[in-house]
Amino acid sequence: MNEFDKPLFIREIIKTSHDMHIKGWTEANGGNISLRLREEFVKEVSAFEPQSDWTSLNGSVPGLANDYFLVSGTGRFLRNISLFPEKNVGIIQLDDKGENYRILWGYEGGSRPTSELFAHLMTHEVRKKESKGVEHAVIHTHTPNLIALTYHKEYTTAEISYILWAHHVECAVVFPEGVFLLPWMMAGSYEIGRATADAMKVHRMVIWQHHGIFASGRNLDESFGLIHTAEKSAEIFIKANILGGVNSKPDLERLQKIAENFGKKLNPDLVKELNSKT
Ligand code: 13P
Ligand code: ZN
Repeated sequence: MNEFDKPLFIREIIKTSHDMHIKGWTEANGGNISLRLREEFVKEVSAFEPQSDWTSLNGSVPGLANDYFLVSGTGRFLRNISLFPEKNVGIIQLDDKGENYRILWGYEGGSRPTSELFAHLMTHEVRKKESKGVEHAVIHTHTPNLIALTYHKEYTTAEISYILWAHHVECAVVFPEGVFLLPWMMAGSYEIGRATADAMKVHRMVIWQHHGIFASGRNLDESFGLIHTAEKSAEIFIKANILGGVNSKPDLERLQKIAENFGKKLNPDLVKELNSKT
């Protein structure tokens, strides 16, 4: 790939990883990004000479058989993608069963895909199905305000969704389905990947207690935007509490009206649970 003629998906990951870094979400090698490549790019990259043998995923994602992904490298700093994309990200191809992958480009200097690869791929598999192929981009990152909320209290999914909807009302429009809160599990494990992907059947964002957030969107801008909006709400909530506490906030009825004004509807299961507690 020519330095002066980078394909669009490389330019997009450079922009997104840079934006994530300046937001303070990507200390050291924290966070990872994956992008399911669109048809027009697959044509180009499928002609690349494979750079590795097939490697087992230690699990299967048949819904992604023969798909191609751009994935950040394990141990790599997202803030360095702009400097050396060929070292810090790579392109992988999945086999026709969705059980093995091989490297087609990148990871120069001996890296490989992120340790959260299986969580990314299982999330892609679920969201590809739920969105009828529309969603392509998954981001995992370490957002300080959302993480702080999980240290503050053992919130439920309904409670944390309401906090986020209520402290920046854009949230009711941007993610009316709410945000799933996953109790602590070991990062990089099959179990955290499976639990994240299962939650993604309904949600596009999953908070990992004491760790960070996972989000899926149509493209990197949408995944970034989901996280950005949720993180901003968490920041406003924390700031209001520093000011002495939250003394004024919209109730569910008002939030529902705001969502409806944009043709959206708050997740009925979460609304029911919240109403049953008041
Ligand atoms: P990687 O360096 O393997 O991508 O891991 C970073 C991370 O955030 C793990 O949760
Ligand atoms: Zn992480």
